[in-house]
Amino acid sequence: MSNKLLYSGKAKDIFSTDDEQVILARYKDQATAFNGVKKEQIAGKGVLNNQISSFIFEKLNAAGVATHFIEKVSDTDQLNKKVEIIPLEVVLRNYTAGSFSKRFGVEEGIALETPIVEFYYKNDDLDDPFINDEHVKFLKIASDQEIAFLKEETRRINELLSDWFRQIGLKLIDFKLEFGFDKDGKIILADEFSPDNCRLWDAEYHHMDKDVFRRGLGELTDVYQVVWEKLQAIK
Ligand code: TMP
Ligand code: ASP
Repeated sequence: MSNKLLYSGKAKDIFSTDDEQVILARYKDQATAFNGVKKEQIAGKGVLNNQISSFIFEKLNAAGVATHFIEKVSDTDQLNKKVEIIPLEVVLRNYTAGSFSKRFGVEEGIALETPIVEFYYKNDDLDDPFINDEHVKFLKIASDQEIAFLKEETRRINELLSDWFRQIGLKLIDFKLEFGFDKDGKIILADEFSPDNCRLWDAEYHHMDKDVFRRGLGELTDVYQVVWEKLQAIK
C-alpha cells in the first residue's frame, strides 16, 4: 500500500491509500488543549480514541447518518472516505459548560431548554473564532441550505448520541463535530467522536472526557478506558 503522509494533525496523522477516495487515519498518543498550548504524549490514548470513535461511527452509520467511516483496520488505524473538510467546528450544547459558561458568566451543568448549536471557524492562526451564520456565508464556507443542513444533522446526531450515553449513565453535556463534502458534493460527518471532542459527566458529576487533561483532574486514559468499557452496554 502506498501510504503517503498527507496531513499531520494534533491527534491524528492522515495517510493516502491505494484507493484515491479512501484515506487512512492513524490515531496518535498525543493530547493537546488550548490550541496546542498544553501538549503531552499519553501512551494508549490513540488506541482508545480509535476504538471509541470507530464504535460510535459504526452505530451512526447503522442509524442512517451519512459518515466518512469505512472500517477500523488496526488498533490505531481506520479507513475513511476522503472528504473536503468544511472548516467549521460545529458545537452542540445540551448543558452549559466550558467556553459557554465563561462567555455568559453562568455555572456549568445547567440544562439548556433547546440544545444550542454554534459555529467556530477552524483556523489555528486565528484561534478558531466563534462565528455566526452570516460570517459563514461571508467566508464562503457554506450556503444557507448547507448551514441549515449542518444544524439539523447535528441536532439529529445529538438525539442518537444523547440516548446512547444516557443508557450507560453518562450525560452528553456538549460536543464538537466536523463535516466534509464527499466526491459527489454531499455533506457527510467526518473527523472523530471521542472524549477528546465531547463532554461526558457521570451521575456524580465526574468529568469523563478531555477536561480531565485540560483541567489536570486525573489520568486521561483511565477515564477514556471507563467510557470504552461502558459503551459495550449500549443497545
Ligand atoms: P468549549 O466549551 O471549549 O467551547 O467546547 C465545546 C465542546 O467542543 C467540548 O465538548 C469540547 C469540544 N472542543 C473540541 O472538540 N475542540 C476544540 O478545539 C474546542 C475548543 C472544543
Ligand atoms: N482541540 C484544541 C487543541 O487541541 C483545544 C481543546 O480541545 O481544548 O488544542
